[in-house]
Amino acid sequence: MLKIYSILLFVGSAVCWAGASGPSHIDRPCDLDDHRCIGSVLASFSNCKQTLADRIQPEYRIKKFRFETPYFNTSYIDNDLIVRNHDTCSVAAFFINKKSKTAVLGIDCRDLYLETERTVIQHRSLQEDNVYHYHVKATYPLIRMTMNLPTSRSAHVCDLPVYTEVPVMPRFHVDPKDRPTAKALSTDDSLQLIFERENFFYRGYPFIRMFLDAHICNFGCPREIL
Ligand SMILES: *[C@@H]1O[C@H](CO)[C@@H](O)[C@H](O)[C@H]1NC(C)=O
Repeated sequence: MLKIYSILLFVGSAVCWAGASGPSHIDRPCDLDDHRCIGSVLASFSNCKQTLADRIQPEYRIKKFRFETPYFNTSYIDNDLIVRNHDTCSVAAFFINKKSKTAVLGIDCRDLYLETERTVIQHRSLQEDNVYHYHVKATYPLIRMTMNLPTSRSAHVCDLPVYTEVPVMPRFHVDPKDRPTAKALSTDDSLQLIFERENFFYRGYPFIRMFLDAHICNFGCPREIL
């Protein structure tokens, strides 16, 4: 374990060093707010079209969104989910490593607002689930999504992994729908980071794909987000 850790540390510091000296194999072809430029670069090595999908609305609704928090053995269903400020996400990183033939694209979303009637299904092996209900409003100061796209072959963004970070915990208000839910709600803040990371592991995919298709370059990813 220690060995792996020290190798990771070594790689980490090598990257920092390379970044500081501005190596020539790193290409930054566009200003980060120039979505047309970024879109045309993406289109040059992938299957996306510069005819964009419909713009994301400042507020939109999703009938149902499911996610899981494996750490807590729990499934969630967001009913009548309201999303605000998804349309104001912005590109926070875009560069191409010509050596590794990889494009790195980072999207930041600020003050992302989610409001929903949430069903919480807590699983127990060989037993009946516990089911809870609450209404929640949450504002996430920053959600940061990062994708690596190969530039050497047509990248199908809809299939690529997305890493989603929740660097700042949300401001939120939870309104339990019944007494059992009120009693079961955790007040342990140290668990919240785990919850939010697992939560946004699921949300990162639809959030970045919708944003790319509508604002940068249209990969035609399926819009159904369940
Ligand atoms: C999840 O379930 C496992 C057993 O499968 C248990 O050991 C663990 O404590 C549970 N996690 C939480 C957070 O309750």
